[in-house]
Amino acid sequence: MDCARLWLGLLMPAVAALDFSYHHQPEMEAFLKNVAQNYSSITHLHSIGKSVQGRNLWVLVVGRSPREHRIGIPEFKYVANMHGDEAVGRELLLHLIEYLVTRDGRDPEITNLINSTRIHIMPSMNPDGFEAVVKPDCFYNDGRDNSNLYDLNRNFPDAFELNNVPRQPETVAVMKWLTTETFVLSANLHGGALVASYPFDNGVPATGTLYSRSLTPDDDVFQYLANTYASRNPDMKRNSCRIKTGFSNGIVNGYSWYPLKGGMQDYNYIWAQCFEITLELSCCKYPRKEKLPSFWKDNKDSLIEYIKQVHIGVKGQVFDQNETPLSNVTVEVQDRKHICPYRTNKFGEYYLLLLPGSYVIEVTVPGHGPHLTKVTIPPKSQNFSALKKDILLPFRGQLDHISESNPLCPRIPLYSELQGHSAATKPSLFLFLVTLFHILFK
Ligand SMILES: *[C@@H]1O[C@H](CO)[C@@H](O)[C@H](O)[C@H]1NC(C)=O
Ligand SMILES: *[C@@H]1O[C@H](CO)[C@@H](O)[C@H](O)[C@H]1NC(C)=O
Ligand SMILES: *[C@@H]1O[C@H](CO)[C@@H](O)[C@H](O)[C@H]1NC(C)=O
Ligand SMILES: *[C@@H]1O[C@H](CO)[C@@H](O)[C@H](O)[C@H]1NC(C)=O
Ligand SMILES: [Zn+2]
Repeated sequence: MDCARLWLGLLMPAVAALDFSYHHQPEMEAFLKNVAQNYSSITHLHSIGKSVQGRNLWVLVVGRSPREHRIGIPEFKYVANMHGDEAVGRELLLHLIEYLVTRDGRDPEITNLINSTRIHIMPSMNPDGFEAVVKPDCFYNDGRDNSNLYDLNRNFPDAFELNNVPRQPETVAVMKWLTTETFVLSANLHGGALVASYPFDNGVPATGTLYSRSLTPDDDVFQYLANTYASRNPDMKRNSCRIKTGFSNGIVNGYSWYPLKGGMQDYNYIWAQCFEITLELSCCKYPRKEKLPSFWKDNKDSLIEYIKQVHIGVKGQVFDQNETPLSNVTVEVQDRKHICPYRTNKFGEYYLLLLPGSYVIEVTVPGHGPHLTKVTIPPKSQNFSALKKDILLPFRGQLDHISESNPLCPRIPLYSELQGHSAATKPSLFLFLVTLFHILFK
């Protein structure tokens, strides 16, 4: 018996299988530190700040170069438990971490993913809220808000109307984190419903609110991303919570479900150039721990497949005539311009998530006319890389002036500038009723 265990111990990866139970801050920290130590070449553990009560906001990075960005390797992230009582996502991300690190070098799919992607995982954005849950319940708990009683998913700057709430330490930490990396794709894990919800969560008539929805110029991509997740999760696809919501195929536009101000996904898309969707993973916000194995089983494939989508579309660097990479230049696809134009990072890189098809990329350097490049994204491949397209500009970049190139962005609310804007529309009576039912979820 002992001998067999020793033998097994030698064959198995250095991991004490993570149990299916809820891990409070000390256990979660111990697990993350253990992983960071045992798998130090592919992981990097760091705290992006502290909660109101001083708990660390941990992020574990998994990748071949976990400590720093490499040119051509896109940055991906998952954030869970921003509502402290929505506990399933927190545990799923711990299991995802274990799954990734123990399969590296054994499972070709995971090895490819780790080789080609830098994956940032934040199991809890609201650790104080999680600890504040006294008696776990499916619907009503303490702990949704942070310990100053602010809902963190209403706490971000809003592009469509002024969001005049004091910004919380957890929110500030995330906003700062978003400026330190060029995140490309993200999801934000919640509970209390079963659906993949995509931007916008707020809107104005120019984004479609007169038709009870609010869509981005990248709506095709967002629907595809939400479908990628929902179609692999049997219960989400069937929309199988008891309260019926009429989602089709388990996806919904955030605004058409119910509008909200100050949400994290709109902030990511508008200000951080990062496509983010909101995943509602369980009808019950804080189910019994005995249910966790089946949540892991239902979400594992979706979680992995969703990460891979960071490799759709086109990526590359923008260079001037001297082959100097140009940062802060605008790189946008014609007919899908962003309110805050997407710009190259400090390495001159751009990443644009696009479905297969032909597009015109428009690069703009202040003082020069737009530079157009035609690209054709081939049908989906299992390549673990977007189409690579470097862009060479036929002049010398004027680096000193480039930082001034985005005057529109700091202005809030941004969308009031859009044509067709009138006084903020009120949601219809139907939406109001739906809101009453669901305001407590995302
Ligand atoms: C890390 O390695 C130690 C020693 O082999 C082991 O006891 C521990 O369970 C491992 N933990 C994880 C999370 O891999
Ligand atoms: C992944 O990267 C490692 C280390 O650079 C390399 O040895 C391995 O061949 C790569 N594997 C795949 C599947 O690309
Ligand atoms: C496959 O990956 C390479 C980079 O490794 C890239 O240059 C190429 O465009 C990719 N092909 C497709 C079809 O996306
Ligand atoms: C790019 O823009 C950022 C922020 O606007 C600024 O801090 C940085 O200096 C700019 N870099 C260049 C090379 O213009
Ligand atoms: Zn939530």
